[in-house]
Amino acid sequence: MIPYSKQKITNKDIHSVNKVLKSNFITQGKTIEIFEKKICNFVKAKFGVASNSATSSLHIACLALDLKSNDILWTVANSFVASANCARYCGATVDFVDINPNTFNIDVDHLERKLKKTKKNKLPKILVVVHFAGEPAEMKKIYKLKLKYKFKIIEDASHALGAKIKNNFIGSCKYSDLAVFSFHPVKPITTAEGGIATTNKKDLYVKMQMLRNHGITRDLKLYKNKINHHWYYEQQLLGFNYRMNDIEAALGISQLSNLIKYNKQRSKIVKYYKKILKNLPIKFQNLIGENSSTHHLCVIKINLKKLKISYNNFFEKLRKKNIGINLHYLPIYSQPYYQKLKKYPKLKNTEDYYRSAISIPVFPGLSEKKLRYICETLKNLILSHL
Ligand SMILES: Cc1ncc(COP(=O)(O)O)c(C=O)c1O
Repeated sequence: MIPYSKQKITNKDIHSVNKVLKSNFITQGKTIEIFEKKICNFVKAKFGVASNSATSSLHIACLALDLKSNDILWTVANSFVASANCARYCGATVDFVDINPNTFNIDVDHLERKLKKTKKNKLPKILVVVHFAGEPAEMKKIYKLKLKYKFKIIEDASHALGAKIKNNFIGSCKYSDLAVFSFHPVKPITTAEGGIATTNKKDLYVKMQMLRNHGITRDLKLYKNKINHHWYYEQQLLGFNYRMNDIEAALGISQLSNLIKYNKQRSKIVKYYKKILKNLPIKFQNLIGENSSTHHLCVIKINLKKLKISYNNFFEKLRKKNIGINLHYLPIYSQPYYQKLKKYPKLKNTEDYYRSAISIPVFPGLSEKKLRYICETLKNLILSHL
């Protein structure tokens, strides 16, 4: 089965990991700091806190922004559950904004309408903006709404390391308080498991550093008790063990050196799909001119009505041909856990999207032969139903 995505590990990556394995520190050494600095230099953010997953980073980002049980967080339902679960970990309520039918990202008009008609005491404290498939959402417009309605923004940039709005990398937090990246194997670069939150705000940085490590600080300047000894440390908050280890960070450092190359390879694959599959009843994600996407996913929406075929049938036919297509995403509100919490209304564009969207393979290392096979199979399947 050709997977929809997978990691690419080089000999250099293996060498980088081996070096740490042979060193004195396999966790809590200097490699994590180096990785954090390299990511910050790349995206041009002042601070970065690496963790063991983007899920953990989203959690501590919400805590750093003081999200509490009587607060509300808004996000899109067309995302992985982690974009919403971070609110639930803090006991906060989640509500969802619809997506734009062309960009598959948050629909800023719907966001504005929803903000306008929401009572002041029910407005969100945090908006989690997902850069779906690595295509940046309309951050400038969202930022204006942030200033008007006074909510905080966390960019869920799990798909978007290397993506840009004009010349600004996602993660520079030009239009947000924080940005979170994932280093899960299918993401632009991997540390196996891992995540990082970037910010330009020192207070958020300091709090997140503590939260990822049990709420502990070893910084004398921050101590409540002025005890200056090597044996001393202070737990000031209730934190977690969300630490990244040095082995993962070493892999991340090495992977980062290939990020631009990998994103270019993904972009080339998507261009090829667009060229070969044009004039068929399918729709690709609309990309906004001033943005550059990472092409973390390549989603096509199939015109099933025109083809007179069911979604399941279409999906299974491609799977039987060994093409590991996938769905990104089932609306979060349709999950039994969220259904039990509240009667969430179905969002029109989100529903339309997920009933016809499939992710086709895109990853560095996808051979031309396989790419041609995917295109031919897809094209033949569609043409046979026209
Ligand atoms: C949009 C989005 N947010 C958050 C996550 C969670 O990332 P992680 O697996 O690193 O916790 C993912 C992972 O698939 C994701 O796609």
